[in-house]
Amino acid sequence: MLLVMLAGLLAMSLTWIYFHLSKDRGYIEGLGLPLDKPNFVLGSSPLLPHQHVIHEVYMKKVRELGKTYVGYDNAQPILVTIDPNLIKAVTITHFENFSETIAFKIEPKVTTLDVAGGMVWQVLRKNMSPTFSSGKLKGMMEPISGISAFTLETISQSAFGFKSNAFYTKDSELLKHGVEAFSSFVTDSLPKSLEYVVLLHFPALFSYISIFPPAYYKLYDVTTNIMKQRSDQGIKKKDFLARLQELLEEIKNNPDGEVGKYLTEEHVTAQGAIFFLAGFETTANTLSTLCYNLAKHPEIQDKVREEITNVVNECDGRIDYDSVQGMKYLEACIHENLRMYPPATLHIRQCTKDTEIAPGLVIKKGMRVDFPIYTSHHNPEFFPEPETFDPERFMPENEKNIKNLTYRPFGGGPRFCIGQRFALIEMKMAVAKLLTNYQISTSPQTHLKFDKGSPFMLSYPELVLRINKP
Ligand code: HEM
Repeated sequence: MLLVMLAGLLAMSLTWIYFHLSKDRGYIEGLGLPLDKPNFVLGSSPLLPHQHVIHEVYMKKVRELGKTYVGYDNAQPILVTIDPNLIKAVTITHFENFSETIAFKIEPKVTTLDVAGGMVWQVLRKNMSPTFSSGKLKGMMEPISGISAFTLETISQSAFGFKSNAFYTKDSELLKHGVEAFSSFVTDSLPKSLEYVVLLHFPALFSYISIFPPAYYKLYDVTTNIMKQRSDQGIKKKDFLARLQELLEEIKNNPDGEVGKYLTEEHVTAQGAIFFLAGFETTANTLSTLCYNLAKHPEIQDKVREEITNVVNECDGRIDYDSVQGMKYLEACIHENLRMYPPATLHIRQCTKDTEIAPGLVIKKGMRVDFPIYTSHHNPEFFPEPETFDPERFMPENEKNIKNLTYRPFGGGPRFCIGQRFALIEMKMAVAKLLTNYQISTSPQTHLKFDKGSPFMLSYPELVLRINKP
């Protein structure tokens, strides 16, 4: 009897799971677009992400199915496209119906701008954007122009106003939390793959299980502690944290104003982690792959060094916010490197209202649209000979040949990367300093091989290069 009851219960559970997972099936199949066939009820994405380099999966699918296709990411129906017209329609023209990036609710303490939605995103974005204006950026870069700065050091000094010593010691607290927060999203083992697949098939579980690792909360505490220290000691700065402190004051003094109405103190403090979560890995990653490309192309490296030396000589030996503006070839090298190795390989939008994005092509509420960045950048129709490192593509006289929204290392539309200008200046300063003092070359151990299981970041285990005094 017990066995019969158990078998009945199992059958009912399996039927419920089947109907739950297939409830959104049927619509996309009628759109007349190529279908990335799902694995029974389990979606079209790789079932064990830890066995795949995700950007290569998108490359293969676009090769087989074309620039636009539909499928299921776990249970969610998705449209995947690298067609610039559709990207424009979703990220710009109909932005109001595609302004969100994630489909589940998260607590304010971990709601950084990149995952915020609705009015919280709007008010945060509006109030954080002025921090990234030219004047503010120039001020933020001043503290680092005198040191041998690399990304974390730049970030901790310009955003948080203190030396992390991350560049000198591997034990830095900040470096540890920053790296941990990022690596937690890499599905590098079978148990992690299974956890990821189960959670994405049943996103309601996100309300009970936090996907954010302890490192996220530690970065929150670091932000709280620095802000407290500043107000206790009356320290006044002009950096990113100072802007967050202003917003906290605004919430306190004017709870019915726009900021007070939509944001809590936790929302504001959570933004302290932005530079680490959205900015540190991306810039560090780009600097490493750029060094790799420059090591593999010594003639290009010499040409950049010559430009840097000329500009620096004209600017009384200064490598700072102003002098790097004149380094056009260096900028072209950075862009070409971001094309070949975009650190974020994908950006996405959730549909919040049925919308016709092209004649007869209606995206339904609840669907997601994926824009694989790496795949756009390696499409020979957009970038001839995509595997060749050719900075000339991005020199001012050639930039007109690049079709809008085919090059998107920083995403697109009103939700494009808020740190784009910060990142470009920071990277130019870092490379200018490095190449002024050192020669980079390959060694027999130099190779670039990408990690499996990283959902949207171009990560690799290590990159060995030789760095010598010329
Ligand atoms: C090489 C460096 C960087 C790259 C390649 C990069 C790339 C991106 C991409 C692809 C997006 C998604 C945009 C979209 O959905 O359309 C993004 C968003 C974002 N990035 Fe960056 N990023 C970089 C550096 C930075 C830095 C230095 C910061 C912070 C100072 C930063 C902060 C952000 C934030 C806050 C968002 C979310 C914006 C929003 O949703 O409103 N990023 N970034």
